[in-house]
Amino acid sequence: MGIKETESWGSRMGLILAMAGNAVGLGNFLRFPVQAVQNGGGAFIIPYLVCFLVMGIPLLWVEWAMGRFGGRQGHHSTPFILDSMGKRALWKYVGVFGIWTNIAIAAYYCYLESWTLSYMMHSVLGTFHGKTQEAIGNFFTQYVSLGPSAVGIPYEPVFFFVVCLLLNTWILSKGLMAGVEKVAKVGMPLLILFGIFLAYKGLTITAGEAGALHDSSVGLNFLWTPRYERILSPTVWLAAAGQIFFTLAVGMGTIHCYASYMKSKEDIALNAMSAGWMNEFVEVVLGGAILIPVAVGYLGIDKVNELVQLGGLGLGFKTLPYLFSQWGPILGAFSSFLWFGLLFFAGITSSLAMGTPWMGFLQDEFSWRRKPAAWSFGVLVFILGMPTVLFFNYGVFDEYDYWTGTVALVVFALLECLLFAWVFGMGKGWSEITDGADIKVPRVYRFIIRYVTPALLLWVFVGSLFTPKGGDWGAYLKGNWETDNSSILNKILNSSIHEKIAATADLSKIAQLRDQLFYVNASRFLLLSLFVFICGLVFVAHQRRCTLAKRKRMEATLELTKV
Ligand code: PHE
Repeated sequence: MGIKETESWGSRMGLILAMAGNAVGLGNFLRFPVQAVQNGGGAFIIPYLVCFLVMGIPLLWVEWAMGRFGGRQGHHSTPFILDSMGKRALWKYVGVFGIWTNIAIAAYYCYLESWTLSYMMHSVLGTFHGKTQEAIGNFFTQYVSLGPSAVGIPYEPVFFFVVCLLLNTWILSKGLMAGVEKVAKVGMPLLILFGIFLAYKGLTITAGEAGALHDSSVGLNFLWTPRYERILSPTVWLAAAGQIFFTLAVGMGTIHCYASYMKSKEDIALNAMSAGWMNEFVEVVLGGAILIPVAVGYLGIDKVNELVQLGGLGLGFKTLPYLFSQWGPILGAFSSFLWFGLLFFAGITSSLAMGTPWMGFLQDEFSWRRKPAAWSFGVLVFILGMPTVLFFNYGVFDEYDYWTGTVALVVFALLECLLFAWVFGMGKGWSEITDGADIKVPRVYRFIIRYVTPALLLWVFVGSLFTPKGGDWGAYLKGNWETDNSSILNKILNSSIHEKIAATADLSKIAQLRDQLFYVNASRFLLLSLFVFICGLVFVAHQRRCTLAKRKRMEATLELTKV
């Protein structure tokens, strides 16, 4: 269908910064360090780097190429981009992932983003000053439990969530050039500058100074000393691949959407690398030098390990304000404000990206205008996000992150890679990637995209679907089919919660676990309903396209008969 005037990016720099802004997000500063700790520090880094080279980079090229290809034909979201590349009707519905994942991630991501707004305010008000580490941890716990607010705003987390959503919606309604691109141009340089300052601070922690227990080297060694004992565990690989995908925003549909607004001959190869490597610099160098060295320096490895097991994404909120408060009231408040400000900029350039596929879809298929499209995104995210705010303690937030921020990305990436290399065809695909390229793409990537990336994705997916108990694959050969609680299968069956229920006689604990079971299942139901809803819209859109095409054909025949 296509709208009359299609938007496009203002400049190449703007496009790269917007793409980098999409990639650089809370994932770089909060999720990466926590995933690393949860998966054994140094044991995580090797799979992580391998995933970047053989899955991240090729998928960046694939998605940029798919996006530009789709955009040329007036498609700005994955259902019809995929449809234009494969002949089967099914691909449209695979493309639903590329809208669904974004909305579902936005639902918990915007909540996380809203914490940074609230923490900016509390930094200025001096809420954290003079508090013990314990008290700062408790502040966070109280906040997410919707406890009494320190500043008297009733339901403070809800308030900031709504403010954050309104801000996102308002910027989205301004459009790509005047909204998204502008924010990225201001936010990205600021974020990098302050990231460098904080990383410097993180790297120079000395034991005994301002209450630190360890030198920063303790945390760095924990993160960077390679360990090989879990190197073949698909669970660790799933986590590593999940993090690479999350941070680069591949396997989501966002890149396709951004790339679909490029000019048709614009370079892909170099642009994709610039955005991708900028993201890795921010994640590994800056993201790796702040949270873990600081948290380990002030709390020790055991405490950090304990904290990340209980809902990891809060670590930065439970620990860093304490460090800052050691620097005195003025510098402390200032640094704390800048840290949460940095997180906010990182977050908003990503959450804006999440809105675009849905908006592009409505604009293309139902001729919606930008403003209502943006507001409808806000409403959807509000509906889906409120459960993460209200029932955070029941694990709704983590549940969203697991299914949409990890599993779905791997599934979609696998399918799109097969479509690109095998259905669309590697020959055509390769010329899409290299067309207009400002660098020479190493030919080995032709082979990697065709074989290595899908094979690895398949292994990661199947391996984590049926991970055997204790990761012992040999047990299957001996006929022991028990799967591990970390496997996707056991997650579906809620095995870990059931086991906990069976193991305790404490009635109140059982009731609590049962509640958790309810909320976990309910959140899956919500996510699934959204998926079905978008499938329905794609179906209607397809029907509309068919009717339109038929009408055009009829008109053409009429013209002919007239002649
Ligand atoms: N890449 C972003 C981050 O690291 C997250 C993101 C998810 C961005 C989905 C766009 C779409 O935080």
